[in-house]
This record gives sequence, C-alpha cells and structure tokens, in this order.
Amino acid sequence: MDVRVVTAEKLGFCGGVRRAVEIALAGAGAGRPAFTLGPLVHNPAVIGHLAERGVRVVDDPAAAAGGVLIIRSHGAPPEVLERARAAGATVVDATCPVVRRAQAAARELAAEGRQVVVAGDPGHPEVAGIAAWAGPGARAAATAAEAERLELGERVGVVAQTTLRREDLEAIVDVLRRRVADVRVADTLCAAAQERQDAARRLAAGADVVIVVGDAASANARKLLAVCRDAGAEAHLVESAAFLDPGWFSGKAVAGVTAGASTPDWSIKEVLRTMEEMNEPGDVAEEKPSGSEGSSAAGGDAGPAPEEAGGPAAEGTGEGTGEGTGEGTGEGTGEGTGEGTGEGTGEGTGEGSDVPMKPLKAGEVTRGRVVAVGQDNVLVDVGHKSEGVVPLWELSHQHVTSPGEVVKLGDEINVFVLAVDGPEGVLRLSKKRADEEIAWRCLEEAYAEGTILERRIIEEVKGGLIVDVGIRGFMPASHVERGYVSDLSQYVGKAVRVRVIEIDRHKNRVILSQKVVLEEEYQHLREETWKTIAEGQIRHGVVKSITDFGAFVDIGGVDGLLHVSEMSWGRVNHPSEVVKEGDAIDVMVLRVDREKEKISLGLKQALPDPWTDADTKYPVGSVVAGKVVRVVGFGAFVQLEPGVEGLVHISQLANRRVATPEEVVSVGDDIRAKVLRVNPGERRISLSLKEADQEQEKAVMREYMSDQRRETATLGEMLGPALEQAKDRIQSEKKRTTRKRAARAKVEPEAESAGKDGDGGEE
Ligand code: F3S
Repeated sequence: MDVRVVTAEKLGFCGGVRRAVEIALAGAGAGRPAFTLGPLVHNPAVIGHLAERGVRVVDDPAAAAGGVLIIRSHGAPPEVLERARAAGATVVDATCPVVRRAQAAARELAAEGRQVVVAGDPGHPEVAGIAAWAGPGARAAATAAEAERLELGERVGVVAQTTLRREDLEAIVDVLRRRVADVRVADTLCAAAQERQDAARRLAAGADVVIVVGDAASANARKLLAVCRDAGAEAHLVESAAFLDPGWFSGKAVAGVTAGASTPDWSIKEVLRTMEEMNEPGDVAEEKPSGSEGSSAAGGDAGPAPEEAGGPAAEGTGEGTGEGTGEGTGEGTGEGTGEGTGEGTGEGTGEGSDVPMKPLKAGEVTRGRVVAVGQDNVLVDVGHKSEGVVPLWELSHQHVTSPGEVVKLGDEINVFVLAVDGPEGVLRLSKKRADEEIAWRCLEEAYAEGTILERRIIEEVKGGLIVDVGIRGFMPASHVERGYVSDLSQYVGKAVRVRVIEIDRHKNRVILSQKVVLEEEYQHLREETWKTIAEGQIRHGVVKSITDFGAFVDIGGVDGLLHVSEMSWGRVNHPSEVVKEGDAIDVMVLRVDREKEKISLGLKQALPDPWTDADTKYPVGSVVAGKVVRVVGFGAFVQLEPGVEGLVHISQLANRRVATPEEVVSVGDDIRAKVLRVNPGERRISLSLKEADQEQEKAVMREYMSDQRRETATLGEMLGPALEQAKDRIQSEKKRTTRKRAARAKVEPEAESAGKDGDGGEE
C-alpha cells in the first residue's frame, strides 16, 4: 500500500489522566498497599503497568482499608470518599480539576434550589459522580431525546460531562430551555477533550480513513470515533497496534491517526510504527486484501463495533455551529465568543465568528473596541445598544493612574460584563476581570493539556516564588529545580518554564512547577541517551562529582564513571588533578552495561595518543629532557611528557658502578638522557643518563677546543698591528745597527789612527 499517514494536532494523554497516572505511580511502593477505585484509565496496558507495580483495582472503597485509595480522574461521589475514610483508607484524590470544577458547579446549582441535569452518559462514573455532588434530585441525559423524557422542576441547572461534544450539550440545553423558562448552564466542557475532538474533525476532513487509538470503554475515544464518522470519514477504533487491519488502508491515499485522552504515547507510537511497516513496498496488505475484511482481532471492518454504535455519540446530530457561544454560568465561568486564549492551542479563534450576536449577560466575557479614552474610564463598543464603560480600577490588576497606560483608542480588548444595566443604566465592563477570566481558562487548558508555560517570576515569598500567569501563581521552593535551591531570590525577574500541577479556581489557587518540566526533559534526554549510546562514541558531558577513584560525568541524563586510570595518558594521583565539578569535557564511551545501567567513560581516549609518534619526537641518539617520576631497584622511570615515560636502567645511570639508583637520581629530578631505543607499539623507551653525560662531556670538550682555537685566532687578530709595528721597529733597528756598524767600521781605522791620539767614543 502507499498511504500517507498523518496525525491529529492534539491526541493522547490529557493533563488530568497524566496526573492521575503519576499520582498512582507515586503511591505504588510507598510502603502501603495502593488501590484505585475502578480502573484508573480506560486502557488495559496502563492498568497492567500499574498492576505490575502493585496498584490494584477495587470496586468497593472499603476494600482499601489500611491502604491508600486513589480516586481516578473521573472523580467519585462524596459518600464514597467518606466510606473509604471510615474503613481506614487514606484517600488520595486524583480527580481531574476540570471534573472537580463540574462537581462544584453541580453543588452550587443545587444550592440555588435548581434541579441539576448532568448532560452526559448516565452510566459513566464521571456523570454519576457529578450528579452525586448535586444531591439526590439530580438527573442525567446523554441526548436531546433523553432530555425530553426527564421530569423537570421549575428551575434547572445544567452541568456538562467534561468530555461531551459541544453540539450534544447544545441540543440538550435547547430541549431544556424549551421545556423550562429558568435554565442556567454551567459549561464545564473540558478544553482538552474539545481540542481533541476539533482536531479529530479536521483530521477526518482530510483523510480517507482514520484510526482512533483507544479503548472501547473510553467515552473519550468513542466520541473521537463518532466525530470522525460524522465528518464523513471511515474510522476504526483500535486498542493497540495488534488490532490494525491492513485491509483498511488498501486503495487509500491518506490515513489519519488520533487517540483518546487515556491513550499513552507509546501506544500511539506503536500504532504509527506498525502502519509505517505496513506501508513498506511489498507489504502484506497489498498482497492479501481478501484477508482483511472482518478478520481483524478487533472484529472490525468499516462498520462500527457494537459498543461504539450504541454509544451516545450515535445520537449526535449537531453541525458544530454553536462553538464559542455557550451559556454563561453567572459565576464568571461562562464561555465567551470563542476568542483564543493565547496559550498556543490556535483552536477556537475562528469558531463563532459568524454566529449571530446574542444579548449580553452579566458574567460573560466578550470582545470590544475602545472608542473613547477618558481621564478615569474608557468606553468600549461591544455591539450593544450603548457603549460599555470600563472604570480605571477595572482596567488592570496592576496599579495604574490613567487609562492611557493600559489601552489606546481603537484597541481590541476582552471585557467581562459586570452589569448589563447598571445603576446608571449603563453597560459596566471590566478588562481586569476578563483578563483574569482568560488567564484562568488558559491555566485550566494548560493544566488539562499539560502545556508548558513560559512566565516571569515576580516575587519571592515564604516557601516559594510567585509567578505571573495572568494571576498570581505559586511555585513551591521544592518545585523550582530538580535539586535543592538555597537562594530563591536569584529567580526574581527571570522567565521560567512551568507546568500547572494543581489548579482550584474556587480557592483561587494555582500551583506551578518548573521541576516537573526539567525532570521530564531529563527523563527524555536519558531515554534518548540510552537509545543511542554505543561503545566508541565520543560524547560531550559535564563533571557532576568527584571521588577518590574517579569522576561521574553526565553525558545526557545518564551519569557515566570516568575512572582515574582513564583520565590521562600520564600518571594521575587524584582525579582532581585532571577535572573539577562543572567541567565540560569530551569523553569516549568505553563500556555500556544496559542491564546494570552502567557506563564506563575514558577521557584520555578522546585525546591523541602521545605514543603514536613517539619515535619521531624522541629519535634514537637524541638527548631529551625529562623528570624522574619513579625510582625502582633496576633503574628510574623518566617522564618525557604526560603519558610517555622512559626507563633509565641502573647500568645506564652513571659511568661508575652504581649500587642503587638513589645514589644518582631522586624522584622529581629534572634530567637529560640519551635515547637508546624507542618502541611505540610496546610503549617503551630506553634512556641513558650515562651516555647523555658522556655526550655532554664531549660537547663541553668540543666547545672548549673550539673556544681555544677561537681564542688563539683572536689573540693574533688583536696583536697583529702591534706585531707589525714591532717587526718594523726591529727591522728599522737592525738597519740602524747595520748602518752604525758600517759607519763604525769605516771610522775605526781613522780612530785607530786617531786613538793613538786618545778618546774611545760613546759606544
Ligand atoms: Fe480532565 Fe479533560 Fe482529561 S476533564 S481527565 S483533562 S479529558
């Protein structure tokens, strides 16, 4: 087959289910037996996983006596919680906050004296739970037809099952409004469920066949199936990849995949992987189409499974025209005009734009344009018969002194309707309340979706930090980082990525956590590292801690041991000589033990081996410098560079006989030695101190001789002129003497004759 596989923009686990599973896993192994009241989610694989960890399913709250009873995200009636506590069980309430909001709305509507109608499947535990919080008079209706048959009082309050399709809710409300004059609707539809349904609708519009991954017992998954079929697509519900039928894809161009809020990621991935495998050329689907019809383990073909066909979705007839126009609750929780909430879902922005305008109601959030900016108020056109007034103090939750600090003429803003016909007969609006309202919706959506929000920390308070999330969200100190933080003030003014971990609008409480975001990223990184790690890889890491035998290096969510012997090619006495905590280093993966989850790392292996070119760096016959690092009985080891040591054998230490090496060298001595042999393969170098000394003596002698010659030459050069002069003088003297002698010889005969007369002269 040749099918393009596309997935819905929103699918799988919602925040409420994820939270419940996390709570259950945290409860498992906590020292006391853990139970869930009914299956935690409609997913056998998840239930199996929890069972492996000791979390058992019970139907009777008393069965959890002495243990921990976890209330699933659907919630439970108040008397069930009482029974569990009375039986001695510790109740851990994992009711989804969106469901809890519905329970609270039911209780409040009942307290107003209204007969509560829960729009939803009467057999669903969430609906039963919501109805129980309203008291004994509450009714439930899954369809408009069922609503027709209800016995009703004079005043009715409607609460919706969180996962109900909006069109089903509207159909039920229409019937109730026709029958009873005073109907008040608390729109408690879950944004996460609606988004999944909207995304499924869009997916189905562009796909030839849609696979909905989820359990048939899941209302959520069944509704997705109905949405896809209503959109005209062939759709199949599968619990897992094993139920896929290759025949479904035969002759199809585009296959869509979506999943209910109880479906874990890995189950979706498994389905996608299997579809990809089916998609490979020459796959079985193309080869045996006849086997596909009615042969799947799900027993399904293009037609609905019996339980699917009989589900409430089969009654749905709406065309979705009413999105974004739901009724207000009169308590600030009403649905607005479908404007986006700014949290990146991107859905809902277009819906409702063509809807005819409805009369404004107090408690409603709507959108308008600023038409006048006064000194202490602004006028906003919301399409009402007159403009609405937003007083200065209703503009912002921060202190402002003039409206111009917040809005300008022509701005499109959200406003909360305080009073349609106020004391002065004017429409009174609040931008501050609208912003808060939207912030709450955004937070509830973020909670349900598990969306990560990036927000700024504005204040440090006792026990934690205040985060600006449109309202003041609290982040406990224990949720700031993965580890302990001693100084929280360093975070003030900084942006953080947080997840909403608890939200209770009635108590005005939002708890945020950066830690869960970091932890999740860490776990992903860890999984990715384990998936991709292999021996011989060079990995970048950060030194986390140092011990006497080595250092632990984080190489991506996984700590590996860098043993001291693998730190350097040279000798290392203590790991701290090579690395310190926080150092970013490249290391080689030496060994991976997946079973024991152990990884050995090497630092020196990530560096060039100094022995590789040792014979070039230290050629035989050369004299090299080094330091004595070890003295043993047969000689001394000399380090030429980190990792390269040579041996001076005792016989090569001196020209004389040496009894012990210590007579000649000590550890730490800087010496010069002659290279006798180099064997890089065996990592051996033989050195000789004796020959180096001889070399040196010879060198000194040569230098001396050369100095001598130079000195002689230099003497000649220095005395040359003087000698010449002396020679000249001697020559002159000789000549003079010769002349004198000649003169004397000539004179003597005369003198002889004259001598006879007396005087012998001066000579
Ligand atoms: Fe809660 Fe909505 Fe999921 S109601 S359990 S977040 S589908």
